[in-house]
Amino acid sequence: GKSGYDHFMLKEIHEQPRALRQCLQGRVDEMGGRVTLDVDVDPERVQFVACGTSYHAALYGAELFRQAGVPAQAFLASEYATSPPPVDDALVIGVTQSGETADTLSALREARSRGVRTLACTNTVGSTAARECDEVLYIRSGPEIGVAATKTFAAQQTALNALALSVAQERRRAGDVRDSLSALRELPGDVQAVLDESNAEALAEEFVGAPSYFFIGRGVHFPVALEGALKLKEISYGHAEGFASGELKHGPLALVTDETPVFAVVTGDGPLATKTIGNVKEVESRDAPVVAVTDGRSKVERYADHVLEIPEAPPRTAAVLANVQLQLVAYHVADRLGRPIDKPRNLAKSVTVE
Ligand code: F6R
Repeated sequence: GKSGYDHFMLKEIHEQPRALRQCLQGRVDEMGGRVTLDVDVDPERVQFVACGTSYHAALYGAELFRQAGVPAQAFLASEYATSPPPVDDALVIGVTQSGETADTLSALREARSRGVRTLACTNTVGSTAARECDEVLYIRSGPEIGVAATKTFAAQQTALNALALSVAQERRRAGDVRDSLSALRELPGDVQAVLDESNAEALAEEFVGAPSYFFIGRGVHFPVALEGALKLKEISYGHAEGFASGELKHGPLALVTDETPVFAVVTGDGPLATKTIGNVKEVESRDAPVVAVTDGRSKVERYADHVLEIPEAPPRTAAVLANVQLQLVAYHVADRLGRPIDKPRNLAKSVTVE
């Protein structure tokens, strides 16, 4: 059942601290400073294949692998399956919650037919992807009923984080690993803090019915922007787009008016934050209502009309926390509109046709 929540989606959003603890259980040893996964990979390069929300997790995973010094790219599974890139000696990672998405299975089969190793990052034990791939990394988030993926996305982010760290560890980038390990350990508690303190419902009230919503982010926050927009369109039926912050001025800025809320994910106070603040100023000067999703370190709130606050965390885990705020915004906008949140029109939980 829904345990008192109005929708499975809201229940699953609130299950995220537990889902992430399960995902990390026995895998992260902070004292010993090590990640232990029961997968055997140390790839020269990585190609991710995935669809929808899982593709956003793949984009995020690819960024983390690149940070660990491994060339990595994310592909839409439908494109990969029909127009595959050279595989060289890549490890091909299929990110698929269900393990049954036809496009992703085709892409993985395409890769296997060319003799490369494959890994399934999935929630579903015994799924086709799990059975067909050489290695499996389970995300262990528990079953997800709502059509809109929430806790499985957070668990994909977390599992891919651990996987990228295990590769960094093989490459003896010990400093990176130790800091990131403690951030991962704090993540479930930080997600709980976001859930306990979020003002997303009030913000959703304010912006319900906007003609369009924009989401912007840079680096690890770019996939979060894409995911924030996808969630909002899926369940509220409102128009929403996610952009890499730097792309706004190359076209989408033409759509920005005083009626288009812009959600900007800005964490830390490094060069990425500074650059995104520049993009926030671009939309602010067009009178767009700006919502900063931030830990406050960059002072982006000076240019924002509203703030969705998250705890201070390194970028890779801040990306998980920021996404939780955006899940709540999407949920509450859709709820205000009375949408059938757990079963949006035209969508299915598992898409088994190409
Ligand atoms: C969005 C959503 C879909 C799935 C996509 C891939 O909320 O759920 O975009 O992410 O259909 O599904 P899996 O991960 O099962 O391969």
